[in-house]
Amino acid sequence: MTIKALNNTTAELRATFLNYFKSCGHEVIPSASLIPQNDPSLMFTNAGMVPFKNVFLGQETRPYRRAATAQKVVRAGGKHNDLDNVGYTARHLTFFEMMGNFSFGDYFKAEAIEFAWTLLTEGFALPKEKLLATVYAEDEEAASLWRRIAGLSDDRIIRIGTNDNFWRMGDTGPCGPCSEIFYDHGPDVWGGPPGSPEEDGDRFVEIWNLVFMQFFEGEDGTRSSLPRPSIDTGMGLERFAAVMQGKQNVWETDLLYGLVEATAALTHTDTAGTMLPSQRVVADHLRSSAFLISDGVLPARDGRGYVLRRIMRRAMRHLKRLGATEPMFYRLVPKLVSEMGAAYTELRNYEALITETMRGEEERFIALLDRGMALLDQELDKLGSGAVLPGDVAFKLYDTYGFPLDLTQDALRERHVDVDVAGFETAMQSQRARARAAWTGSGDEATDSIWFDAVEKFGATDFAGYDSEKTEASIQMIVKGGDIVLEAAPGDEIAVILNRTVFYGESGGQAGDHGHLSASGIDVEITETQRRNHDLIVHYGTVRQGPVRVGASVTAEIDGDRRRDTRAHHSATHLLHEALRRKLGAHVTQKGSLNDPDRLRFDFSHPQAMTAAELQAVEQDVNAMIRASHPVLTREMTPESAQNEGAMALFGEKYGEKVRVVSMGAAETDRNAYSIELCGGTHVHNTGEIGVFRILSESGVAAGVRRIEAVCGRKAEELARQTEQSLKDIAALLRVPVADAKARVQSLMDERKSLERKLADLQVKMASTTTAADQEKIGEITFIPRFIENLPARELRNAAENAVKKQQNTVIAALSDADGKGSIVIGVTPDLTEKVDAVSLVRAAGDVMGGKGGGGSKTLAQAGGPNPEKDKVFAKMREILAQL
Ligand code: ALA
Repeated sequence: MTIKALNNTTAELRATFLNYFKSCGHEVIPSASLIPQNDPSLMFTNAGMVPFKNVFLGQETRPYRRAATAQKVVRAGGKHNDLDNVGYTARHLTFFEMMGNFSFGDYFKAEAIEFAWTLLTEGFALPKEKLLATVYAEDEEAASLWRRIAGLSDDRIIRIGTNDNFWRMGDTGPCGPCSEIFYDHGPDVWGGPPGSPEEDGDRFVEIWNLVFMQFFEGEDGTRSSLPRPSIDTGMGLERFAAVMQGKQNVWETDLLYGLVEATAALTHTDTAGTMLPSQRVVADHLRSSAFLISDGVLPARDGRGYVLRRIMRRAMRHLKRLGATEPMFYRLVPKLVSEMGAAYTELRNYEALITETMRGEEERFIALLDRGMALLDQELDKLGSGAVLPGDVAFKLYDTYGFPLDLTQDALRERHVDVDVAGFETAMQSQRARARAAWTGSGDEATDSIWFDAVEKFGATDFAGYDSEKTEASIQMIVKGGDIVLEAAPGDEIAVILNRTVFYGESGGQAGDHGHLSASGIDVEITETQRRNHDLIVHYGTVRQGPVRVGASVTAEIDGDRRRDTRAHHSATHLLHEALRRKLGAHVTQKGSLNDPDRLRFDFSHPQAMTAAELQAVEQDVNAMIRASHPVLTREMTPESAQNEGAMALFGEKYGEKVRVVSMGAAETDRNAYSIELCGGTHVHNTGEIGVFRILSESGVAAGVRRIEAVCGRKAEELARQTEQSLKDIAALLRVPVADAKARVQSLMDERKSLERKLADLQVKMASTTTAADQEKIGEITFIPRFIENLPARELRNAAENAVKKQQNTVIAALSDADGKGSIVIGVTPDLTEKVDAVSLVRAAGDVMGGKGGGGSKTLAQAGGPNPEKDKVFAKMREILAQL
């Protein structure tokens, strides 16, 4: 290959890498989302191979067998977590780009080594003598390939027997031995080759990892062979850029340096000498936060959202260390977008969402940060040297001031103080226990502890309501007025626990069922069903016929219409979710949902209001899926198989032993289904049962979160009927056929406008025509006080102007009270202006009305004020005129 003249900017290095592999028959694939699409077991995409996991496992095929990517990667939270190191080391980042080439059962070790060697030594023109390689200790084949292909001598092929040379993406998944290529900065830099005691120095740096994917590792650690040996490689772009730009740390490379400088400029700190760790932390966290937000993560109390919150709050604390006194993290977004927006258009598309999310989080956190830091300082003063911060203090910082544990640790790092993490965990546990004791839900502590005990005693309620609306059951417990009772009489309001039920307990946004528990001589009308302590289904209702006793056998039957309406809404929510993703993009994720018999409400992440055209397209897509009458499959499976099926992982889902996978859109193969979600709710059996779907409204509920409300089936029918009826009512009032109503309304509106005009003209005319009776003599001056009810301010001027036209020695005060406030215009005939001018009069009038200012010319001036009390205003005018 030909050697290119390069400036070695990060952008050029990325392009050279991808072009090289393209020329070698690889498909260049755009970076996938940071949120693994098919893998609830993984927090973030943490390596270039993640999007191809199922391809390696042979569970998915692609139209190509060689691929190359520059993949965005986050290593914070979960396995491969670098958060704590960022800022303090030369090379750790929470966000970086990983370039890689992949073979899916196509080429293997020899070609992988050859590609890498050719690109490094010819494409990037790195001197051969600066490179060395490690191999897994048992991998003789790799060692001999390095000798043969690269001509490396034995002392530069280093055998490593540890996990460093056996790569895994997570606790389970594809894995294999690997071979890492190192660059030697030369003897001027301290450090030793990999495997030596000095390996942590900066002299030898890893630039490329070639993984020879051969195995699948299960949860118990057993390994099975992959269907076909494959290749996964990873080259961290920023680290490589440092080598190519002759820098010893990633912060001095073009792209990151730009962000560090922007941080310095914003905080008025400087980058001369060594960069401050805080500047680096901010630059790195800016990238991870912005990219996570653009992929649909929002700050939250748990899960991915909490990792994002930790990253953002950490950056905010470092900004504060750099002197920031107000929110400013978000002000770095434009710089990031200008640096990386060309390669990653999501940054451009979601710039507003990113900015607003950061600003919101900063505004919320900034006051807490100050107070938390003050508390921390106080506590530190109490500690002797070498002491450890007590766990309950760290917990208080967490609980009261929103300090994630790692933020506290990071803040203490500068002072060489550790946190008692075990103590923190204990404090956290006991808070959880307290919360459990005072179980939230009914809000009634006494009853809540009853439910708690009921779960212990009876176990989870057996839910038989996915497929039927009726079941035989026996009453296990009756609670009345917060007490456990053995029997209840007609009229009593009770809560009932059954061994088995078809009643769905409100959860996952789906409303609970209504219905009856009945037997001969027994009828309990159930008007609410709740889930308590996760597994217990509690029926609330009133005894209509009794007595009802514990141990009685009853038929539990739900109100089928209500359930059917509710589940139509729930199923439509899944279709809506997918239609939104397809129309607006993969950043659309569920932020909340509510399905009851009357409607559905779906909250999702999206930075701006949807257009009418988008709404219409989404509504049409959902209706097309309904009309196609696709079967709906709901199945139980392990999370592992669910992810293999391609189920959409939702934020904050708790994955139990088994999950329910709901798929809609294609019966035979779920993989190709239109929508696949993990969901515990009840659903239609066929999309056709939804009937029809109509969007009622789209609105904003928080920064970056939109809400759609819609109705389906009977409710949509009702809506259509109501809409039609009101149209008919309108037409009847207008006395025209419905089809002509619009034109009729338009013509009425036009007519009204012209009448208003005429009326105003008339009022002006009336106001301008003064008779002797309207006039008063004050000394030599003729004063005309006019009050005109409800005349718009703009018309008053004409009225006054006309009234003094052709007059002499006259002052008119025209006052009106349109729109609940006073307006006044004073006209003074020109012959009088030597003595008195309109502006001073109008200001005096304005004062009386409680207004401010007023102005105009000597002959005509206007003012306003909230209190148009005409008698007082005119009296004031008379008073002034009398003094002349
Ligand atoms: N998947 C390998 C890594 O991340 C290439 O190092």
